[in-house]
Amino acid sequence: MINQEKPKQVEKLKIFIIHGPNLNLLGSRDPEQYGSLTLDKVNTALRKKARELDLETRIIQTNHEGRIIDLLHRRRKWADGFIINPGAFTHYSYAIRDAIEGIAPPVVEVHLSNIYEREDFRSVSVTKDVCVAQFYGKKVDSYLEALEYFRPKL
Ligand code: DQA
Repeated sequence: MINQEKPKQVEKLKIFIIHGPNLNLLGSRDPEQYGSLTLDKVNTALRKKARELDLETRIIQTNHEGRIIDLLHRRRKWADGFIINPGAFTHYSYAIRDAIEGIAPPVVEVHLSNIYEREDFRSVSVTKDVCVAQFYGKKVDSYLEALEYFRPKL
């Protein structure tokens, strides 16, 4: 008899996506910088891309620094990776920086706008150095590139 092995059930990579403060206002907030898509539409694009890449995702938006830190802590065992747009916290939150540094899963930083070509204060990211990659300036595509970063390797 031929030894037919059952195909192994391969677990999908799990990516936790955090949208930080004011990103709930996408669509009406400064479309020049942030594009015209609402957060719902951004999330729809993320879910579609995640299906294509065979990734499992959870997506959350919060305006609160402590909530971001709690999510990084609580989801660090579930997640194979995080994608985070820390919003303005990017520029000054050493607490979020320390949280990213303190967990094992890789974290990718994302910005819709090009933070390096705006006001001076935005060109500093205190979180970047503890992230494995940073994508910015491409509106929703910055997020999609971040998902691509986690494309499962064969
Ligand atoms: C942002 C850039 C930040 O400077 C700003 O405070 C945001 C959004 C972006 O996605 O381009 O809230 O993170």
